[in-house]
Amino acid sequence: PFKVYAELRDNTPVRYDEHRECWDVFGYEDVKYVLKNPKLFSSARDRANTSMLTTDPPKHKQLRDLVNQAFTPKAIEALAPRIQEITDELIAPHLSEGHMELIDDLATPLPVIVIAELIGVPAADRQKFKDWSDVLVKGARDDSEQAFQELLEEKKRNMQELHIYFTDIMEERRLQPKDDLISLLLAAEIDGQQLTSDEVVGFCILLLAAGNETTTNLITNAVRILSEQPELQQELREHPERITSAIEETLRYYPPIVAIGRVAKETVELNGQTIQAGEQVISWVGAANRDSTQFEHPEDFISDRKPNRHMGFGFGIHFCLGAPLARLEARVVLHTLLQHMGNIQLMPGTALQPIQSAFVFGVKHYPIQFN
Ligand code: HEM
Repeated sequence: PFKVYAELRDNTPVRYDEHRECWDVFGYEDVKYVLKNPKLFSSARDRANTSMLTTDPPKHKQLRDLVNQAFTPKAIEALAPRIQEITDELIAPHLSEGHMELIDDLATPLPVIVIAELIGVPAADRQKFKDWSDVLVKGARDDSEQAFQELLEEKKRNMQELHIYFTDIMEERRLQPKDDLISLLLAAEIDGQQLTSDEVVGFCILLLAAGNETTTNLITNAVRILSEQPELQQELREHPERITSAIEETLRYYPPIVAIGRVAKETVELNGQTIQAGEQVISWVGAANRDSTQFEHPEDFISDRKPNRHMGFGFGIHFCLGAPLARLEARVVLHTLLQHMGNIQLMPGTALQPIQSAFVFGVKHYPIQFN
């Protein structure tokens, strides 16, 4: 899609799409302007669901402050040994085979296991938990109305089951707190008031929904670049300290989230266009990340690009809460794969199937072979 984004950015940097009934914003400075002005561009698009992702100040900060301490780079860095252990366990069975399904075998289970442990899901429930997480981000089997309705039903059932499950764990933690996120949330207060059970459960579900598929796609997109550019594999083996910046460059070049939605709260001028209050505004990070006014040689993947002010994790007050965790998981995975696998390649003959969502950049399967 990046070619299309580039054309739109260069020809119609801010445009109204009659068909989808929304504004599209493609240039770096314009996207940044939208994301850093929550007073003009609200995140409250979804009234049924009031998570921090879909609230505006001042409520947004109150919600975010509750869990911030669990997601600081320092708190997250402490998880590195455990993330390494899980990664090693997941790849071990495949090393002697010389091939694996990167997404099913590693990039999907890793973030699910890590977030489950952070939240406080007992190890014995992990499979159940993974099944629920999978349904949370599942797309329809095909384009038919029937498939869509079936998926809707499945998601509804799934949500009810997850709700019951988290409510049970919550009751256990109320009696006996542990060092996990559920206990942290139960102890938390906003204006002297504890969160309701629904709010605690909602928080857990937000973390699952926001963190799993995105991290899966970051890992996969990074390995995809490595297999598309074999010389990069050698470079990173020789300079492992560049893995961190190569992950940032992946977030710029192949961002797992390519578009972020807002709603205009007032009538506002943007790059010569007039957006009316109440209209939808989509910020195309996937286009902004390759804007030549911000990035030199934007179409080249430069593993040690500096500076790299990509917006792959968004920008401003809603900047991704899970960024330190996603970065760490991706770093551990790349390190481990490059260490144990020579010449990583997409399995010959594989036709890549893009994920069917305009907001996501990723593929459904990524079988690899290696020496
Ligand atoms: C927000 C991307 C991983 C939790 C965001 C936003 C983006 C993003 C673009 C901003 C949305 C907006 O402005 O409306 C990503 C990507 C990830 C990733 C690309 C992986 C590579 C995670 C993980 C977690 C997480 C692992 C949790 C464990 C959140 C939450 C928000 C958020 C809670 C809302 C923050 C707020 O509203 O203040 N993410 N995310 N994300 N992300 Fe992530």
